Parts: sequence; structure tokens; C-alpha cells
Amino acid sequence: MADAKPFHWEFTPEPVTREVFRVEGGRPLAGTVPISGSKNAALKMLAAATLTGERCRFTNVPEIEDVRVMAGTLRDLGVVVDHPEPNVYEVASGDVDWLFVPLEAAAKMRASFMLLGPLLTRFGRVIISNPGGDRIGRRPVDLHVDAMRSLGAQIDYRNGYYFATAPGRLRGTEIRFPFVSVMGTENTMLAATLAEGETVIRPAAQEPEVDDLIAFLQKMGADVSRTYPDTIEIHGKKRLRGADHHVIPDRIEAGTFVVAGAVSGGKVTLTGAPCDHLGAFIETVGRTGVSLNCSRDTIEVDGSALGGAGFRACDIETAPYPGLATDLQPPTSVLLTQANGVSHVHEAIFEDRLEWLSELNRMGAKAKIEGPGTATITGRTPLHGADVEIGDLRAGASLILAALAADGLTTIHGAHHVERGYENIERKFLDLGARIERLQEGTDSTSS
Ligand code: EPZ
Repeated sequence: MADAKPFHWEFTPEPVTREVFRVEGGRPLAGTVPISGSKNAALKMLAAATLTGERCRFTNVPEIEDVRVMAGTLRDLGVVVDHPEPNVYEVASGDVDWLFVPLEAAAKMRASFMLLGPLLTRFGRVIISNPGGDRIGRRPVDLHVDAMRSLGAQIDYRNGYYFATAPGRLRGTEIRFPFVSVMGTENTMLAATLAEGETVIRPAAQEPEVDDLIAFLQKMGADVSRTYPDTIEIHGKKRLRGADHHVIPDRIEAGTFVVAGAVSGGKVTLTGAPCDHLGAFIETVGRTGVSLNCSRDTIEVDGSALGGAGFRACDIETAPYPGLATDLQPPTSVLLTQANGVSHVHEAIFEDRLEWLSELNRMGAKAKIEGPGTATITGRTPLHGADVEIGDLRAGASLILAALAADGLTTIHGAHHVERGYENIERKFLDLGARIERLQEGTDSTSS
């Protein structure tokens, strides 16, 4: 007879298909690239759609892995998620029969934690996995949990799960965060839309994706507004209705293509780009001497100065919006490898987000971590092809940028990280004249 094993629940992550990008660099990019919908706006809207039983319809949703993961997580709860055509998602949360967000979802994507606020406030209970940290930092969720408790929720933490209940309705209150948190603001805001009474969130994140979420919630009938730049006020409603919404363009994808044009020494035009959301980044890139022309939704990048005197070094520091986005620090760091002189980089949001610079150094960059969150990049250094490994989404896209600027062939392992957040990235680069392909690890067959 087989030994009886003590019960324990084990989570085995799904095997990831190992893919690589192979990039032959050294060609100036040229042409036009359309910017897709914002990942970090779309994910929150899909979660917000669970605030109502009525159908919500989203257009300009990027076709990326994180959106597919969020759609799958919702379907597992019993939510009907339709995908009638590319970039369009419809969500109907009339019957939610499973108020449980498992570790599988949390392990794939931190934004799964955005389901805490809406499910708790609408259904009065949810069990949700702690999303844990990742390659860019510890990333706790204490601010989210504390805010829900302030709204009257009871939350226990056991075995990696938050068991949250809200006897009766949540109750509005003043939420004072110790510092700005994007998803902390959003989760609290979603919870407060169906709470009893008034909630004030301060300091509230000012990212454009938060304002896009506010715009969608207002269409659902929520009474939510930004009353000061750092303050959001919500008067809870008993119910919300379905709504349609067109997701804003992705400012981080736009910034990534700006750097691609510059470091390849090319001329690239971005269409459907959110110039208004890229102020600090455009100002930074302008200081390096890259020629940029932004008008409404078009950005023209001219990197031809690279072939002449080169770009200028400049110091950068990431900050919550309207400061320079942490998600644009890795692409900007690639640009700084092509600037003459020493640039200082201060990463002020995520403690481990400079770690990837060691991969950039394998390609010939001279980046040195000087202390926690600080590095210097000495340029201009010619980049050369190498074998490098992606640790997270934005570092991955940035290694592609470096590979486009490099002489020779670069093999970039861990392509799935990039798939999480960039729609058709290799197609877009191919259309700009890049030589890039995605291959199964260890084979010669392309995946597309
Ligand atoms: C959002 O993450 C984005 N993710 C991130 O984009 C982005 O880098 C980040 O905001 C900052 O702009 C999504 O929108 C899905 P935070 P979020 O809470 O909300 C600490 C990408 O590549 N903190 O604003 O999780 C935290 O560790 C991703 O698209 C706590 O200590 O970021 C960080 O140091 C990566 N406790 C700081 O706050 C908490 O409870 C700001 O993080 C919450 C956060």
C-alpha cells in the first residue's frame, strides 16, 4: 500500500516556452510605427468591469500576454470575457461564482491584485493571493491592504492568501498614503466607488492611466473626480452600470520607440502617441540632443546626431508622474550609453531596477552601480552583439534597443517577458527596417 502523504498544496508554475530574440544590429531605423493601447490602463479597466453585472466594452486594448492573463483570471471567476475582434474586449460580470484569485494568477502577473478592491466592495468577500515581489524589487501590497482595512474590511493573511470580508458595505473614509502608489490608488478608488459615503485619497497617483480609469468609472456612473492634482474624491454609489471605453495610448511603448529611433541613428515617426503624457521623458531626451518633434499624437524622432557629434550625457532621476517614469529608465539608460560623458542615473521607485545594467555591460556599455538606486553610465561606448538574458519586461525591451544599436548579432533570452507588455514588438521593428526574429530556444524555426 502506498504511504499516505500529508496534505499540502503545492504550486508548480506552468512551464514557459523559452524563446529568444535574435537581432542583427547596426542599421538606422526608418518609417512609421503606430502606438498601441496602454497596458497599465487596460488591465485596471478589465478589473474595474467586475464592479457591475452589466456588460462593459473596451477598445484599443493591446494584444499582449498580461491582458490575456487578466482575461483568463476573470473567466476562472465565472466572468464572461469576449474578445470579438483584435483589440476589443467585452466583460460581463453578472454571475461571479468563485471569489478566489489563486496563486497561479498572482505568479503570472502582479496586476491580478487589482481584483481585491472591486470584488470586495461588490460581493463583500474575496480570497486573493499575495502577488509577492519580482525582479525589479520587493513590491509589497501593504498599502492596498491597509487602505481596504481603513474602508472597514476585515483581512486575515494566511498561507500566502489574503482572506478579505466586508460585512455590510465598505465605508468611505480619508485614506492617507505614506507615499504615492499607482495600483494602491487605483485599488482603493475602485473599492470606494461602491462604499457608503465619501472617500478621499491623498496623495493619489497622478499617472495618466489613473485618470483614464477615472474617466471609465465616471461613464459607469461612479461619482469620482480628481479635485486637486494629488487628491481623488469618491462618493460611493449603490450600483454602477456597464460602459464603453477607448483605452489611452501606451506612453511607455512610445518612449521605447523614441529611443529605438535615436540609438539606431534613424528617423522614426510615432503615430497615435500620447505627447501630453511624456513631458518629463521628452524633456530628458531633448537634453541629450536627440531631435524630437511632438505635436498632439505624432512624435518625430531624428537620431542622425549620433553619426556626428553624438548625444550629450545627462543626469536622470525617476519619480512618480509627472516625473520621469521608472518604466522609461531602462530605455533611457540605453540612450545614455550613446551620449558623450558621464550620466548619473537615480532609480527612486524600484530598488532592483538597475540590476539589468549588468546585461547591458555584456554588450559593451560602461554602466556602474554606485549604490542603492544609483548608477553611472559612461559614454559613448560602441555596443556589440552578445548573449544576454532578460529579467523583466522593460529591461527586455531595452536589451532589444541596445541590440539594434549594436554591431553584430545579439541573442536575447527570455523573450516571453517582452510579450507580456508590447504588442507585436518584432513586427513593429521589422516594419522599421530592423533585422529581428523570435525563435524557440535551441531551434532555428521562427515562432511566427
Ligand atoms: C505600477 O506598479 C505599474 N504597474 C508599474 O509598471 C510601474 O512601474 C509602477 O506603477 C510605478 O509607476 C501597473 O500599473 C500594472 P507602485 P505599482 O505601487 O502600482 C512601493 C511595468 O513594467 N509599494 O506605484 O505596483 C513599491 O514597492 C510595471 O509596466 C509599497 O511599498 O507600483 C514601489 O517602491 C512594472 N507598498 C513604490 O511603492 C505597496 O502596497 C511605488 O510602486 C505598494 C507599493
